[in-house]
Order: sequence, then structure tokens, then C-alpha cells
Amino acid sequence: MRVVFLGPPGAGKGTQARILHERFGLEQISTGDILRQNGAAETELGRRAEVYMHRGELVPDELVIAMIEAELRKMPAGFVMDGFPRTVAQAEALDRMLQGRGWPLDAAVLFNADRAVLIERLASRWTNPRTGRTYNVLTNPPKRAGICDEDGGELIQRDDDRPETVATRLDVYDAQTKPLIEYYRRTGRLVEIDALASVESVAEKIATAIGSAQTPGARW
Ligand code: AP5
Ligand code: MG
Repeated sequence: MRVVFLGPPGAGKGTQARILHERFGLEQISTGDILRQNGAAETELGRRAEVYMHRGELVPDELVIAMIEAELRKMPAGFVMDGFPRTVAQAEALDRMLQGRGWPLDAAVLFNADRAVLIERLASRWTNPRTGRTYNVLTNPPKRAGICDEDGGELIQRDDDRPETVATRLDVYDAQTKPLIEYYRRTGRLVEIDALASVESVAEKIATAIGSAQTPGARW
């Protein structure tokens, strides 16, 4: 099963990709997490990407596409991509990479949510910078404030969750990523999900929807 998640910042892509990994063993490829890890490790990619991420803009296609090519070399045939593709050029590159491997994409899941809810979710999000696991002080708090339930380490607020950067990220999504909705709808791969429902209810809807979108004969 190969799935990509499309949706605005704060829609719950990372939360749901983690659930698909835990429940069905799909590998999670989160471009945001990989780029942040590169930033922390001060790699050349991390240094180049940080400038854009700090402003809430997209990292240039050629850097992100090369990064995904490298990730796919390490990946088994089942995965969920959280945060890639984000432009039509990235989607076309992904189709080419998957065609070359004989791995068709089963579904592109679109997370629908309204702007006011996304702004609130991002303002109340806390993240484990070591694993990418997120919490929310309003809807999904950790057992101890500021501490990750899983590794007992400190939680942080992401640098790009400042209100002015969130506004830019939402505008960038509308301008550069929304055209992908049509790209996947046209090819019959789009599955739409109401991302305003509870985490558990969204997880159930995704499992049902992608189960029926699966390529005949393919396995999870
Ligand atoms: P990235 O890290 O991918 O950020 P994003 O797309 O802006 O999305 P987020 O991670 O903010 O939100 P999410 O949908 O994962 O929500 P989450 O599950 O955390 O990218 C960051 C940057 O990297 C980009 O701006 C860009 O610069 C660069 N980049 C990355 N990929 C790129 C690419 N392909 N091309 C170019 N540049 C790229 O949930 C949010 C909060 O809500 C959490 O607190 C969570 O607990 C809570 N929550 C989740 N679901 C629910 C629910 N159903 N009900 C209530 N609360 C919920
Ligand atoms: Mg995320």
C-alpha cells in the first residue's frame, strides 16, 4: 500500500501517518521531519532548507525531490508520505519514481479543514523534536506538561508555528499545493477526509477509504 497525504499545515497529517505506521506497519516518510533532522545535524541540505522553513515557504523542488529519491532507495514497497508532494512538479517526479519501480500509488488522501481550526491547532501544538511525535495542549495533551509520554524528553514548540509564519504556510498551501487536488482527482486517486473529526474517527475513515482504494492484488 502506497499513500500520500495532502493537506494544509495542522490538518493532522503527521498524527495520522504515525497511526498508519503503528497499526499497519507502513513506513512514514515525513519530509518536514527529515528536513528538521538535517537542520539539527547541520548538514548541507539542512542549512539550505532552514532559510525557507523559517519563513514558512517551500524548500525548492530539486532539493526535496533528490531527498525523496534517496529515501525511496531505503524504503520497502509500503509507505505513507506525509508532506510530499507539495507542488505539481513534485507529484510528477514521484509518479516517475514509482513507475520506474512498478509501484503504483494507491491513494492521495486530502485532509479538509478550515483555517481557524488549523491556526488554533498549531498554536497549541507541542512536538518531540527527536521523533516528530506531536501533542496538543487542548485536544491531546501529554501526561506531564512539556514532557513526551514515549521517551520522557522535552517537548518544544516548532519555530515555524509562530502566528505570522503559520499565516504564510497557509497561503503557500493555497497557492502551491492546492493544484495537486485536481492532479490526483483527474487520475482517480483522490480520497477526501474531514480532518475536523476526532483523531480516532479520522484514523478509521482513512483506513476504510484507502482499503477500498487499494490496487487489486496489492498488499498492505
Ligand atoms: P511540515 O513539517 O510537513 O509541516 P506542515 O505541512 O505545515 O504540516 P504540520 O506538520 O504543521 O501539520 P500536520 O498536518 O502534520 O499536523 P499534526 O499531525 O502535527 O513542513 C514544514 C516545512 O518544511 C514546510 O513549511 C516547508 O518549508 C518544508 N517542507 C516540507 N515538505 C516539503 C516539500 N515537500 N516541499 C517543499 N518544502 C517542504 O497536527 C497538528 C496539531 O493538531 C497537533 O497538535 C495534533 O496533536 C493536533 N491534531 C491532529 N489531528 C487532530 C484532530 N483530528 N483533532 C484535534 N487535534 C488534532
Ligand atoms: Mg507534520
